[in-house]
Amino acid sequence: MTTPRLTCGFPAFLACFLLAAHVTADEPKPNPAADKAAFEKAAAGAAWAEVFSDSCTADWKEKWFLDGEVGTVTNSPEGMTLTAGPEFRNDAHHMVLWTKDSFEGDLKIDGAPDDMPGLRYRAAFCRCGDSANKPYCDNTHEKNAFRDRGALGTTGDSVEESGGPLEIQRAPDGPLIVSGNFSMVTGAGRKGWCGKKAALCRCGASKNKPFCDGSHKPAGFKAD
Ligand code: FES
Repeated sequence: MTTPRLTCGFPAFLACFLLAAHVTADEPKPNPAADKAAFEKAAAGAAWAEVFSDSCTADWKEKWFLDGEVGTVTNSPEGMTLTAGPEFRNDAHHMVLWTKDSFEGDLKIDGAPDDMPGLRYRAAFCRCGDSANKPYCDNTHEKNAFRDRGALGTTGDSVEESGGPLEIQRAPDGPLIVSGNFSMVTGAGRKGWCGKKAALCRCGASKNKPFCDGSHKPAGFKAD
């Protein structure tokens, strides 16, 4: 999934660091100190609250899922090690590790059942288009060919307000329409988009994920 993680007012702080990465002769050398400094610079001054933390020493599958055909994840007492495929610049060798947390905040989901109060503050929505429980994720993306590297090609309108309700409406056989103050975080953990409204692809066919680009129509996407 998932997917870039999307938060409402409280971007997630990940309390773990990548400890190792597979490198080839052509690939830039890992620089954990520079990565940590860049993260701390980005986080400085932001009104963040910690909403997710993991020591990364237990079974990683409890809190994360891997999106990648070749990548692997292992745990050790020192933390978590991610290894992408050996071919630099080969899309099939990219890997992204997602937290299983997807949405947090004051959610107002169109059509949410009254007997599921948890959906008022957290929900995982299907992005691959194949869930049998649309609009929610049922982990079908782990079995089908859904792929998304977790990049965000635009930064939105850079509204820095946070908080307030986040409304999620379902366009018939089309995207999720998300309205409110919200930000989206890339697969690499960087706050990559913020704004007040976006149409997010839920058919899996968009070439501009996570945004809808109208591909649901030629793809014949049926939400129900
Ligand atoms: S919902 Fe996927 S492209 Fe519109």
